Amino acid sequence: MTNDPTAKTLAELGVSDAAGVARLFDDLKVRFRVELARAADEGDWRAVLRDWQGPGSALRSRVIANWTRGGSDTLCDRVRRENEGLIGFVNLRLGVMLSLEEAGLNNAEVVGPRFATLENSFDREIEDCNDEADLNRTKLAWTSRNSGLLTRISSNWLRPAPPGVKRTVGQAFNRLKGHIEQALESRRAEIEVAAEQTALTRERKDLSLPGVVRPLGSRHPLRQTFEEIERIFLSLGYSVVAGPEMETPYYNFEALNIPEHHPARDNMDTFYMAAPFAQGAQGKPGAAPLLLRTHTSPMQVRAMEKQQPPVRIIVPGKVYRRDNPDATHGFMFHQIEGLAVDTDITFCDFKGTVEYFVREFLGPGVKTRLRPSYFPFTEPSVEVDATCVFCGGKGCNVCKQSGWIELFGAGMVDPAVYGFVNYDAARYSGFAFGLGVERLTQLKYNINDLQLYFQNDVRFLRQFA
Ligand code: DAH
Repeated sequence: MTNDPTAKTLAELGVSDAAGVARLFDDLKVRFRVELARAADEGDWRAVLRDWQGPGSALRSRVIANWTRGGSDTLCDRVRRENEGLIGFVNLRLGVMLSLEEAGLNNAEVVGPRFATLENSFDREIEDCNDEADLNRTKLAWTSRNSGLLTRISSNWLRPAPPGVKRTVGQAFNRLKGHIEQALESRRAEIEVAAEQTALTRERKDLSLPGVVRPLGSRHPLRQTFEEIERIFLSLGYSVVAGPEMETPYYNFEALNIPEHHPARDNMDTFYMAAPFAQGAQGKPGAAPLLLRTHTSPMQVRAMEKQQPPVRIIVPGKVYRRDNPDATHGFMFHQIEGLAVDTDITFCDFKGTVEYFVREFLGPGVKTRLRPSYFPFTEPSVEVDATCVFCGGKGCNVCKQSGWIELFGAGMVDPAVYGFVNYDAARYSGFAFGLGVERLTQLKYNINDLQLYFQNDVRFLRQFA
């Protein structure tokens, strides 16, 4: 047999470690089993005996001679140990092929020790079983109906036993069989428990591990101002509405009494959309490019178009201007528009509301003053000033020694605006204001650079947590 591995050295077989040696012997065991089963079928199992057992076995002497040649000491040791195992394996299986006489079992005295040896071999095998596959292999070797060891014992020893020893052999056989079945059973249970245990350890969650701490963010200072202002006006009965950031020139300018060539458009240069072109709003004539709103005031018109007085709204939102960014300018910033229209709203209501808001927002000690100003959509128009929050009105570099700081623009709604929304200007009056959110935040916290709001530097943001 040229392919017979026992005719080659380990080096020739490419085996250089213990695992490789173990595999070679496993293969030999398989080969033995196959040969024995075939020979037994053919009624000549003794041919196998000649090959595999006894000092004259050519195969066994080849194994020792070839597989220990040239290998390291540890590898040779391993070969010898595995070989012992192979001898036991072969002897056990050939032993049960012998006839009752050959096995010396016609002498009842010998039966006990002989079966004890068998039980021992089984116990060693089952101890070596570490998983279900091992266990199934052992079970098959011992209890398989066709060629299992128990079947061999039964047909070679038990059945042909003469009446004198039959009883003894039968009892020993049944004890062995019972032992094997019971041991297989309990070993299977042990293996299952062990497997479950390993799975449990593998999947166990360590509840004592510290959790993942997710740092809590904080509200952006601008958001805090929005919320504070909304709170104040909600408490006065205003509602909060939002409007589009993309506007038509009609709402952004015309309906607010800022005609096309009015100089008030100068400081409100903005971004025009390439497309789409807006049709004049709600049947109003003219097609014009959409723009990014320059203030939240257009929502005054949109709100009044939608509803009759009383109107009390605030409009928080983003606005855009074509400004280069610096400490006091940005191409985007935030406003909160306010509008109150009803019958009998007077300048007094306007002043009271403004003063109330300023005291709520900046503190009870702050005084307010109104300075004349100009906006096309209010008449009269004012700038609302407050006593400087940093020096209490004594004069400092924030208020440029004046003791006052400018807060926001406001005024009584210009009757011309009512004309655009079909309100009866003789019946209704009202006021409006436009709060700059960045500016009010700046004054509250003494922030000297508008760009800080948008750089998202956590060292800045954390101060408002
Ligand atoms: N829309 C103005 C601006 O952006 C601010 C403003 C001023 C709004 C006076 C108003 C107002 O409602 O009455 O500059």
